[in-house]
Amino acid sequence: MTNTSDTPTRSADGSLGDLTVEIWRGDVEGTFETYTVPHQTSQTILDVVTYVQRKLDSSLSYRFVCRVGMCGSCAMTVNGSPRWTCRTHVSEVLEDGNRVRIGPLRNLPVIKDLATDMTEFFDKWARASGQFRPTAPESLAFAQVSPNSKERREADAGIECIGCGVCYAACDVVNWNKDYLGPAALNRAWTLVNDVRDGERDTHIAAVAVDAGCHACHTHGNCANHCPKGINPTASIAGLKRAAFGAALRGKL
Ligand code: FES
Repeated sequence: MTNTSDTPTRSADGSLGDLTVEIWRGDVEGTFETYTVPHQTSQTILDVVTYVQRKLDSSLSYRFVCRVGMCGSCAMTVNGSPRWTCRTHVSEVLEDGNRVRIGPLRNLPVIKDLATDMTEFFDKWARASGQFRPTAPESLAFAQVSPNSKERREADAGIECIGCGVCYAACDVVNWNKDYLGPAALNRAWTLVNDVRDGERDTHIAAVAVDAGCHACHTHGNCANHCPKGINPTASIAGLKRAAFGAALRGKL
């Protein structure tokens, strides 16, 4: 049973007791090993992993940088769901009162323990034409883009992606089809299609209107349900499907 309360349960002596923490060790051939970690108020999953690495087993590999939800490097699988661990409190995810199981992100090769290889994830951003291509590269003037324009609002809805890979790990289509570009890369493409400063809108659309691109999305919505930043890549992909249809009618595909 999951404790959804933010308030941890204290024992009779006032302490929070110990957590039973299972952590994946090894690569694809690995196994879960169990550690005992003191439970503390406001403790995050990243705090737990750091405690294990610093106090119990210095050979544990994992990745983090900012610890404040900005860099996107700390994502792991926590009790079966992909999450950003620096912003996930233990009290949100506990099972059976004190158990936490932590593994690497799904759908990515495991380098070691909790560290995954993000190469294919970011290579797909490049395949999705994720690079901004300015219309006026020589200009020193700031582009004037109304915050109320439709394009600006569409781009703003997806622009806060931190590249954590949570949506990619949550996506069943990526799991079935390793070639699928995935929700993060497609969301990036959608922000560029709507960026009026970008001069190659049709290039971005053509890059994603391919077999393993936007049309491969089954609209399950797992990406939107798990995104820690509240982005809805499913909606972005739907926008790309409409844009691809329009480009086809204009003879651009
Ligand atoms: Fe940077 Fe978690 S450590 S987002």
